[in-house]
Amino acid sequence: MSPPAAGSLQGGRSSLGGRQAEGTAWGHTASGGPAQRVADLRREIDEHNVRYYVHDEPSVSDADYDALMRELQALEAEHPELLTSDSPTQRVGAAPLVEFGSVRHAVPMLSLGNAFEPGEVEAFDRRVSDTLRGAGLLDSDARVAYFCELKLDGLAINLRYENGELVQAATRGDGQEGEDVTANIRTLRAIPLRLRGAPPRVLEVRGEVLMNRADFERLNQAQATRGEKIFVNPRNAAAGSLRQLDPRITANRPLRFFAYGWGEIRGVPGDAAAPAQAGDASLPRDTHGGMLQWLAGFGVPVNVKHNRQVLGAAGLLDFYAQVGGLRPGLPYDIDGVVYKVDALAAQKVLGFVARAPRFAVAHKFPAEEAATQLLGIEVQVGRTGAITPVARLAPVFVGGVTVTNATLHNEDEIRRKDVRVGDTVIVRRAGDVIPEVVGPVLEKRVDDLPPFAMPTACPVCGSAIEKLEDEAIARCTGGLFCAAQRKQTLLHAAGRKALDIEGLGEKLVDQLVDTGRIKSLADLYSLQAEELAALDRMGQKSAENLVRALDQARTPTLGRLLFALGIRHVGETTARDTARHFGSLEAILDADEEALLVVPDVGPVVAGSIRRFFAEPHNREVVAQLRAQGVEPVAEAEPQGASLTGKTFVLTGTMPTWSRDDATRHILAAGGKVSGSVSKKTAYVVAGEEAGSKLAKAQELGVAILDEDGLKALLGL
Ligand code: IVH
Repeated sequence: MSPPAAGSLQGGRSSLGGRQAEGTAWGHTASGGPAQRVADLRREIDEHNVRYYVHDEPSVSDADYDALMRELQALEAEHPELLTSDSPTQRVGAAPLVEFGSVRHAVPMLSLGNAFEPGEVEAFDRRVSDTLRGAGLLDSDARVAYFCELKLDGLAINLRYENGELVQAATRGDGQEGEDVTANIRTLRAIPLRLRGAPPRVLEVRGEVLMNRADFERLNQAQATRGEKIFVNPRNAAAGSLRQLDPRITANRPLRFFAYGWGEIRGVPGDAAAPAQAGDASLPRDTHGGMLQWLAGFGVPVNVKHNRQVLGAAGLLDFYAQVGGLRPGLPYDIDGVVYKVDALAAQKVLGFVARAPRFAVAHKFPAEEAATQLLGIEVQVGRTGAITPVARLAPVFVGGVTVTNATLHNEDEIRRKDVRVGDTVIVRRAGDVIPEVVGPVLEKRVDDLPPFAMPTACPVCGSAIEKLEDEAIARCTGGLFCAAQRKQTLLHAAGRKALDIEGLGEKLVDQLVDTGRIKSLADLYSLQAEELAALDRMGQKSAENLVRALDQARTPTLGRLLFALGIRHVGETTARDTARHFGSLEAILDADEEALLVVPDVGPVVAGSIRRFFAEPHNREVVAQLRAQGVEPVAEAEPQGASLTGKTFVLTGTMPTWSRDDATRHILAAGGKVSGSVSKKTAYVVAGEEAGSKLAKAQELGVAILDEDGLKALLGL
């Protein structure tokens, strides 16, 4: 196998230890037999990989590297008993997959909050400093130590090593569950198949897979020559390469990897069997930077060249400015920098909010902008009838992609910006977000361009377009009578985070709705392979695959089904929490607002929306039809260790970070109960600072006593 980084290794000609592997004058006969030589070759190849990917110091030419690989392959062919799955020759070899399996992350993969302005970074530092001072972890005049990293523009991966061997690699997915891309990840030379040294029994390494810009250009040229897909930017190329069902294709894509974190860690020398979390004494280092260094010691690539520790907000902003200067010269794309509180004990105190840590933030680079011609304004009808004006633009290259459409948000926005068809406009694009029109270049406006007028009737169904006084958004009043709303509802339900019906794309939904074959979500399940095969762009095989996918979608988790229904304000997390709390669709159908408000993060708006949705007879009808089509949701998996069903808790005293309400919500959501007085039936007393008589009573009765951390551990948080 030629190395994925072909070409970029040139220049480092010195083979390790001065030994040349050329020719096949089998050195093993003289130095301890084939087993020894195989071991030596593997070590030498791994060493080259580590030097190249971990230390960024190429130590061998392509030709020499290939010669080592060939010698190893020949020896393994001659002595099959010496072949092991972690041999570098075994990176490719897995058969193509039919689909990716899914992997539930042992520790959720979170995302990061964003900052754009220096003021936001200063506010972040202030919040962190105040909390840490309050917790006695920072002297009044001291500054917080942060670990700063580049925000690599690729995709997040979790690598699971057991007893030092790479056993699984998964994408982030929705943070709870990702796709199993092990066979593909094994082909990346940057990723060790076996860790060096003495790694713990379980070690999950987290980081970013990415493609260098030069490699991306070369790949696109090769793709163009072969008449194959051209990728819009390095991130899409990296993601597309990793989501290949055939690992042999991934093997030929020049992908790289840098670690920036970890997931589950078990069995660190001296540790009990418990999973290690940030701040646990069982972790082998007490800072984030120390942990990354520890990972690097196992041969895992870490971005040592650019990671740095700084002090306080000034240090953060200085790092940002420096990286901004380096950015054009970096071999890969970054979309900002990431600041993490370095001390793990401090991270633990700061904790998490929703799905992002309070101890870290991404400081993003400003969006890129470009000027182009506004060719027209069309309106699109969304799932909930929301009318979005969309700008049709003369193609313009901005933020790494060619943009032809951009959102104009809503009518007020168009009026405020005074954008008119025919104008030269500024288009802005940041990271992965939808491009937007910033405004017109008035100096270039030609006379007599008429202002934009919103249509009064839906362009799809002809129903009136209505705008409520207190809403910025105009809506088509057609409801599910409107084909556009029906289509969007179906596409949402088929989405990966909902019922995950692969193969049900826009073109197909258009045909199914336009011909009247599908009127509601439930109708989907009655589709047969023969009728599908007769549709445009559908063959027998894709029709059968779709029917199979639909069949699999008959047993979604309850949370996915709830999300699929497309209830306003109910995102995937809310749907999952609600499903966990109620346990069955019937219970949710009959829940009143008060019952719904008990679910964590469900407030009056969400509760009202769920209530109203299920009060509508036609929505209840869809649920009944789904049942009739054999749709049987399965219970939502409990978060790790969180089954508290029927257990009664008593809260007393002040907890360091959670209020009583926080603790109550979490306990109820996990199926527990909260009571005001301690009795023999109490399962746990959660005692904070200045706990009084209830704590004494618990001790007297022999009731288990927890502090906030203990409660969190019990909840699997
Ligand atoms: S830390 C708990 N560090 O950005 C925080 N993420 O917005 C976990 N990313 O999904 C992420 N470079 O794909 C972290 N140095 C870095 C990163 C980084 C890129 C990506 C990653 C993550 C996303 C979060």
